[in-house]
Amino acid sequence: MIIAIDGPAASGKGTLAKRIAAHFGMGWLDTGLLYRAVARDVLAAGHDLEDIEAAKTAAQSINAETLDDPALRGPKAGDAASIVAKIPEVRAALLDYQRAFAHQEKGAVLDGRDIGTVVCPDADVKIFVTASAEARAKRRFLEHESRGDSVTYDDLLADIRQRDARDSGRSAAPMLAAADALHLDTTALDAEQTFAAALDMIEGKRKTS
Ligand code: CDP
Repeated sequence: MIIAIDGPAASGKGTLAKRIAAHFGMGWLDTGLLYRAVARDVLAAGHDLEDIEAAKTAAQSINAETLDDPALRGPKAGDAASIVAKIPEVRAALLDYQRAFAHQEKGAVLDGRDIGTVVCPDADVKIFVTASAEARAKRRFLEHESRGDSVTYDDLLADIRQRDARDSGRSAAPMLAAADALHLDTTALDAEQTFAAALDMIEGKRKTS
């Protein structure tokens, strides 16, 4: 089984994807980390994030073992990721890895922006997770606060709005709900309620297919 979970920044898709994967004993890939790592590697090699050749080279030589780098988690890394993510050559270079991961024997949950539309259009279940920008900024703020990072709610809200615009507005694989995606608005839901709602969706989908 392949489960595709897409949605904007801090919509709760990562937490949800991780829980679903653990529940069903499937693999989990946070595809945002791939773009974050490409941006990190481009900068580390001394290039500009808009440098297509440098970004393509970084994407082609991405090392999956470096994805647990804590430096990839911050808002700066997310913003940088959304710049390299606009480059079609970067997206193309990351496709094979994502598809191979999706088709592993025990099944997989992938979360990102284009999983249901481009990476796994054949996914068994597609969920598009949304929440208001304010709710998402608040979540990110609490996350950072608990880690002791010094960020403000206003900066996080601005970052989320800027990233939404960049991710929805780009021509290469824009953030988009697949026509057959189920929509899950988590504005008023906590992680537990989000998980329960998604499980219902998955069970419902399995019964009808
Ligand atoms: O965790 P958060 O939602 O803040 O970000 P993320 O999922 O780690 O993604 C970081 C950036 O990578 C996004 O803003 C997108 O520009 C890009 N991305 C993408 O283009 N396609 C994906 N499948 C996943 C992420």
